[in-house]
Amino acid sequence: MGETKVSSRKRIAVIPGDGIGKEVIPEALKVLRAAAAKGGRELALTEFDWGADRYLRDGTTLPEDAPEMFRRDYDAILLGALGDPRVPGNQHGADILMGLRFKPDLYVHARPCVLFDRRLTPLRDRSEKEIDFVVLRENTEGLYVGMGGFFKKGTADEIAVQEDVNTRKGVERILRYAFEYARGRGLQRLCMSDKANALAFGHDLWQRVFAEVRRDYPGIQASHMYIDNLLMQMVRDPSQFQVIVTCNLFGDIASDVGAQLAGGLGLAPSGNIHPGQVSMFEPVHGSAPDIAGKNIANPMGAALAVSMMCAHLGWTAEARAIENAVRAAIREGKTTRDLGGPLGTREAGEWLASRVAAT
Ligand code: NAD
Ligand code: IPM
Ligand code: MN
Repeated sequence: MGETKVSSRKRIAVIPGDGIGKEVIPEALKVLRAAAAKGGRELALTEFDWGADRYLRDGTTLPEDAPEMFRRDYDAILLGALGDPRVPGNQHGADILMGLRFKPDLYVHARPCVLFDRRLTPLRDRSEKEIDFVVLRENTEGLYVGMGGFFKKGTADEIAVQEDVNTRKGVERILRYAFEYARGRGLQRLCMSDKANALAFGHDLWQRVFAEVRRDYPGIQASHMYIDNLLMQMVRDPSQFQVIVTCNLFGDIASDVGAQLAGGLGLAPSGNIHPGQVSMFEPVHGSAPDIAGKNIANPMGAALAVSMMCAHLGWTAEARAIENAVRAAIREGKTTRDLGGPLGTREAGEWLASRVAAT
């Protein structure tokens, strides 16, 4: 039997998308190329032009065969953001973004909220180590499944129904992932958040599965908070959290709050993950039409998403080099204006790339 040679070459599908996605992703790629070159790694980048321009030109959203193609031919996906004021219903964004999360069943959305410098948090007297947690968002179910409909649409008697889908399998696997995440990283505290006091069916399931799963992890202090209390507690005392696990919609909301506690949306990265399968990395922010095309968007969220992607692919040194470059840029004020610095998007990206190359 011949030996199987595991190639170090990684094939990355890149989807810049819309708005500032098209500005921050090229910068994140400069940083990725610098990190790969430094580590003697081989990269194959393939760009896909899916987004509003393409949709408005020929109606393409997410091609039917895209999930299978990514599974077969790629190691990871890097996404910018989707959303354009010229597509008011965001049809293309829903198809592409939700398609890329749902079809390959990327059931974990990991959104770390880590304060790199105490000057960046809006909270008074909080130090770096007091804001260091992750929001693990269920990523394939809940209110996002798109089930529902209208009755008597456009009339005074109109009814709109939006179904909240929670399956035992879906709830159990995200909760188990969260406990494993904590255990694997030596973290003690895990908080599950739901709204079982109001959502008596769907979130009752979360409560019951949580009670079962936590029994398998006696070493972890598992707690529960209703989502309204959780968001209040995140602002009051974020140091109490290490791992937060919650449903799709609440995770979306909690991760924007967490991002701001750690310096703002411009800095926040995320990973859409299914362990062992091709996963997708993206900044938490959207296409930010209010600042698009002005070279002022912060590319650090995208760069840190690339760092998460490297870590996921086993490129540990590269992941660390990118994160260290972001930390250095913040320390030295080499940032875009959302963080108080003088640089444009391109200049900030180039600074990060040269820092990675130089260290
Ligand atoms: P947004 O994240 O695009 O912007 C929110 C605010 O944060 C804006 O004021 C924006 O200027 C600022 N901001 C965001 N990213 C920044 C960065 N990198 N640097 C500096 N400032 C930054 O959210 P929104 O305004 O609610 O949504 C705009 C569009 O993006 C909508 O179409 C929405 O649906 C879409 N969206 C897409 C994704 C995604 O693709 N994953 C995520 C969120 C929003
Ligand atoms: C995000 C975004 C999306 C979400 C929107 C654009 C549908 O807010 O990635 O956080 O809610 O998941
Ligand atoms: Mn969001």
